[in-house]
Amino acid sequence: MESQVRPVRGREELEQCFELWGDVFDEDRGFFQRRLEGDRTYDSATTWVAVVGGEVVSAAQIFPFDARWDGTTLLVAGIGSVATRPTHRGQGLALAVLNAQRAWMAPAGFALALLFARERAIPLYERAGYVRLPFGTTVAWSPDDGATRSGYTVRSVKPADWRAIRTIYAAQMAPLGHVRSKAFWTDAIRWTEQVDPGREWLVAEQAGRLAGYFFGRIPEVGEDEEGPTVQGRRIRLWEVVSHLNHPGAAEALVERAHRQMGAPGMVPLSLPAGHVLAEGRSVIPGRHRGMWSLVSAPALLRAIHPVLARRAEDAGVPALTLGERPDGVRLVWAAGERTLAGADFLEAVICGRDDDPWLGALFPPATPFLWSLDQF
Ligand SMILES: CC(C)(COP(=O)(O)OP(=O)(O)OC[C@H]1O[C@@H](n2cnc3c(N)ncnc32)[C@H](O)[C@@H]1OP(=O)(O)O)[C@@H](O)C(=O)NCCC(=O)NCCS
Repeated sequence: MESQVRPVRGREELEQCFELWGDVFDEDRGFFQRRLEGDRTYDSATTWVAVVGGEVVSAAQIFPFDARWDGTTLLVAGIGSVATRPTHRGQGLALAVLNAQRAWMAPAGFALALLFARERAIPLYERAGYVRLPFGTTVAWSPDDGATRSGYTVRSVKPADWRAIRTIYAAQMAPLGHVRSKAFWTDAIRWTEQVDPGREWLVAEQAGRLAGYFFGRIPEVGEDEEGPTVQGRRIRLWEVVSHLNHPGAAEALVERAHRQMGAPGMVPLSLPAGHVLAEGRSVIPGRHRGMWSLVSAPALLRAIHPVLARRAEDAGVPALTLGERPDGVRLVWAAGERTLAGADFLEAVICGRDDDPWLGALFPPATPFLWSLDQF
């Protein structure tokens, strides 16, 4: 039967999307409905569907967000809720929806797309032009590993703390982090209070000033959710962010959450790569499945050109030009040139390059700074 692949049309089709997502995923239909209806910036052009015989049988959602890239801002499409009804799987519908979305994203101003893949769906996303790049890390955290945690008072959040929490987050979100609007924070607070009261916000302070915050779910021993487990214990971390001058605050927050959980011994923590809590700790092989796609080389080049020009200048080789070529992106400067294929350019932008001194000066090694809250 003919299928139509396009943005959702009208209330009835959107209801069918909620129904589809509720049937296919663990969360119920209301979760998906609240998620879109609770977002004041929601635009129906971001919900894509495949319609067969008048019914929505496949759908995927674009969650747009701004990411900071060394002072400049990139519009990124977070792709989520990719689902096809079991009766219509294996016919290329999800792939068609993903491809149609990508074609729409470039003229809409998106530079990159990001998604978090389940293992089985990775081949599908690779076919749709997404590549896996190094992402977060899971480390073993133990209360007696000798890290400094003293000097901080940890307590529950109070309304007066939000401004400082936002400031601490903004200072830490380098080099590729989510730019969070005021509405984002308001929604996060509202979700905690109304939708998922099991979530917990803690803050660490020293001499009356906020030094860091913890946001997560602190499970009872033996609670089993998806994710790696060690001896059946897990702190479900959402964020542990400390002020740059207070790395010890992150330790104090996790220690308190750990104590509250009532589990002695080691727990795994999932963190953005490069996080202060990962320093010196052993890595547990994790399941970090961030996949990226270059949506629009021109949009990306426009946004990052001033930053690259500054970096070239700092490296003593000014007069950098960038151009899009059929075979990739061409970088030309006084001393030479390089052409990077699209996927290599994407990797350089997101992870940096350490295999070539010149490219290394333009793209110093880096990692995205994204938390669970930034996932979709
Ligand atoms: C993943 C999913 C959206 C694919 O939909 P689809 O319309 O059948 O996809 P397509 O026909 O375009 O592509 C099929 C590919 O999807 C992947 N796939 C198939 N079944 C899958 C499943 N149960 N779970 C995950 N991926 C699956 C495979 O890579 C498959 O390729 P193959 O047929 O060559 O093995 C669909 O299986 C689904 O809704 N799964 C449950 C929800 C889910 O896992 N969503 C992805 C979250 S990251």
